[in-house]
Amino acid sequence: MNGKVTIITGGAKGIGRAIAVFLAEKGGDIAIFDMVDGSETVATIKKMGRNAMYVCVDVSDFKLVEDAVESVYKEMGRIDNLVNNAGITLDRLLLRMKEEEWDKVIAVNLKGVYNCTKAVLKYMLKNGGSIVNVSSITGIMGNIGQSNYAASKAGIIGFTKSIAKEYAERGIKVNAVAPGFIKTDMTEALNDKIKEEMIKMIPLKRPGEPEEVAKVVYFLLSDYSSYITGEVINVSGGLYM
Ligand code: NAI
Repeated sequence: MNGKVTIITGGAKGIGRAIAVFLAEKGGDIAIFDMVDGSETVATIKKMGRNAMYVCVDVSDFKLVEDAVESVYKEMGRIDNLVNNAGITLDRLLLRMKEEEWDKVIAVNLKGVYNCTKAVLKYMLKNGGSIVNVSSITGIMGNIGQSNYAASKAGIIGFTKSIAKEYAERGIKVNAVAPGFIKTDMTEALNDKIKEEMIKMIPLKRPGEPEEVAKVVYFLLSDYSSYITGEVINVSGGLYM
């Protein structure tokens, strides 16, 4: 990462935190956008000898995101990478799903990606950059009770490919990862029976660790993927192939 600055949304915990720490291990500096306190992640990164900052921001609000991105540029002097990782679930069968539940998931998971990407682009146009969006295999396969979430995650894939085409010539790569069943608070909330059923369906017979997603995100941000853009990599232990 060579001192490059990466903004990671939802970096206070779960997959986002694992990405932040892994990139710092690889010599990167990190800015975390989250609504829950990210100061513990920042302290961990600083102990590793890298620079890090936390901005309390709701990614679904464009104005707040624009200000947050500007504050990163002022404090860290550059913005090289963006990881659009913040996401929520509000699961319900469609007939019972309230309009607010649909709107909220789309606002955070999909509009949040638009907001952050649009806000960082002007900084990336100067020196190029790399963007990784965190989708989900649910956006490809669909899932009962997750029509709002699946629509947001499928939307991210279409967005990824469009922006990859729009900005390839300006030296900006845009890719996505589609995790399967990863051990975080988001999946901890599922009941034990659903978790057991999921694991049975995974060819590798175990949930993924957040670090296993982080390594793929690192690959996509780094020069190791210099000829890859507009791609979606599944990180699902074979659950989707
Ligand atoms: P998590 O719930 O542990 O972490 C999500 C983070 O996003 C939290 O720190 C939360 O505060 C933050 N966040 C939520 N709404 C926000 C907002 N409006 N503005 C700023 N930050 C916000 O979840 P996890 O599992 O780490 O998920 C990370 C991403 O990975 C999400 O986009 C999720 O959809 C995706 N994913 C997770 C899978 C899993 O099995 N855990 C599978 C597939 C995709």
